[in-house]
Formats: sequence, structure tokens, C-alpha cells
Amino acid sequence: MSFDGYKSLINEGDTVILYLTISQIYHVKAQKSVINKKGVEVENVFQTPYGALKGADLIGAVYGSKVQLSKGWGYALQPTPELWTLTLPHRTQIIYTPDISMILLQLELCPGKVVVESGTGSGSLSHAIIRAVKPHGHLYTFDFHEVRCTIAREEFEDHGLGKYVTVAQRDVCANGFGDDINEKADAVFLDLPHPWLAIPHAIRALKPSGGRVASFSPCIEQVQKTCLELNKLGFQEIETMEILQTQYNVQKKQIPILDLKTPGNNSEKKEKEFKSCVTAIAPAQQAGHTGYLTFATLSPIWARQNNNSVKEEIN
Ligand SMILES: C[S@@+](CC[C@H](N)C(=O)[O-])C[C@H]1O[C@@H](n2cnc3c(N)ncnc32)[C@H](O)[C@@H]1O
Repeated sequence: MSFDGYKSLINEGDTVILYLTISQIYHVKAQKSVINKKGVEVENVFQTPYGALKGADLIGAVYGSKVQLSKGWGYALQPTPELWTLTLPHRTQIIYTPDISMILLQLELCPGKVVVESGTGSGSLSHAIIRAVKPHGHLYTFDFHEVRCTIAREEFEDHGLGKYVTVAQRDVCANGFGDDINEKADAVFLDLPHPWLAIPHAIRALKPSGGRVASFSPCIEQVQKTCLELNKLGFQEIETMEILQTQYNVQKKQIPILDLKTPGNNSEKKEKEFKSCVTAIAPAQQAGHTGYLTFATLSPIWARQNNNSVKEEIN
């Protein structure tokens, strides 16, 4: 239940984020035994670069505390959608936190909202959507890949999030989201190879009061087709953006103090004075392209009808 709100003690079966260093973060189950590939029950021992961790040792520990490894130690952290995104088992390409944060903002997600998502993929974005809309909202997530649906459903259950999400196997481009979803959604999110094919179905899924649609696409050609379709179907505020995160490093530096009083070139002066400063250093490498995010608004049904009748009058 540790994904569904904060708690202090780690119980048997909880997921724990094992933090060793900034680049060595893993998810571990707090359980004494696991079933291995041969179907035999064996002791749950997780191997790390700093030695082994017994799953049993996590049970009863406090989230945030240090845990002993056979050759060092780590921190047992409470899972969050952000930490899950960093450590989840990849079954597909996933969406990362800088893009996710913009998606949550632009879709105006908050508790109580109903969201439709496709494809589910590895459930990276789904975990963040669920946290934003729970406890009264709901996520309907669709993927045409049966195994991905089954694993995602099991993962949500295992994380105590099953009541906030419905996973269904569906080809949303060919068949839409289903009549049971019609006029239910406040927002629709698409991470599909051909998102423009799902946009007519998104209109059916959105509430009569309208809503927001977002699409994530790695290639600009996908974006072009999506924007043309959104425009054709009467969406407004169509906007595409790319999120490039720049992380500055904080470092102490010795900075030479310029002597402006004594004549002569500063670089020639022998006795230089230095001052210790805390500085923000721009990264040597910038994070690369992940994908383009396209957002659009569907206005309320009465506004669309009025708009159509005005257009007909003009024509
Ligand atoms: C890149 S993954 C989504 C990753 C997900 N956003 C995440 O953050 O983990 C794309 C998913 O879309 C699914 N997919 C592709 N075409 C589809 C379609 N027509 N209907 C439903 N799912 C589809 C694929 O099976 C795949 O799992």
C-alpha cells in the first residue's frame, strides 16, 4: 500500500526504493522469499554493487532509514511515481518526469478528474496520473498488447492502486475507447505511433463540457499529422512543445578578485587574491530529445454547435 499515501513502517509485500547513489536506484520487494525461474521458492536476496540485501531485513524497517548491505549500506525509500519511473521494469519506451510534469499541468489534473490514456506501455505515466486524480478520480488506460495490460493491472493491484484505475485491452485507433467511456473523460492522453487516428475517438470520450487532449510523439511528422487532425476536428489552443531539462550543479569555486586600483594588466599581476564562492555550473551535456508534447482544448458541446451554425451561416 506504500504507493497509496505515506506511511512509516515497511510491511511485508511493500515495494521499497533502494537508494545507493544518484545513478544506482532500484526497486525491491519487502518479502522473505520469491519464486525463481524454475518455479522453486527461494530466499529473496537482492544483489547490488555494495553487496546483498535480504528482502526479509526490510520488513519492519522505517521508510527513509539506512539499511545494511553485505558490503555497505543504502537507504530504503518510500516509492513515489517519480522514483518508480526511474526504477520500473521497462516493457516499452516510457515517459519521464520532466515530460510527465508538463502533461499533468497542461491536462489540469487534480483529485476527482477522469482521464483516458493509451497506450499503457510500462505504466510510467499512469502512476503519476493516478496520484494526481485520486482518491475520487479515475484512470482508464488502454493498450492493444494483452501481456502489457495483464502486467500493468497486476502492478497497479500490487501497489494498492487497483481501485483508481481500469486497464483494458483495446486497439483504440481501430475501435475507439468503447461506448462505456463515452462522455466520461475530463482529459485524454495519447502515447501511440498513430495518435491522429485516435483523436475522433477522444472527442467521443470527452465530457459534453469539453476537455483537454495531449499527445506525446518522438517525430515531428507525427506531430504535424496530429495537429492537422486536431484543427480539422475543431480543437482550439493547439500547442506543441519540447521539454529540455537543464540541471545546474552547485559547486564551490575559487574566483580571482580583480585588482582595479593598481595600474597594469590583471593577468600579469603575480599576487592574486581569491574568494571562495558557491556557484551554479551549467551542465557539459544537455539532456537530449525525448519527444514533442502536443496539447489542445475541446470546447463545450454547445459552443461547438454554435460555432458550426455560425460557420454554416457564413457559408
Ligand atoms: C511507448 S508505449 C507507452 C508508454 C507509456 N506512456 C509509459 O509511460 O509507460 C506505447 C504503447 O502503445 C501501445 N499501442 C500502440 N498502438 C496502439 C493502439 N492502436 N491501441 C492501443 N495501444 C496501442 C503499445 O502496445 C505500447 O505499449
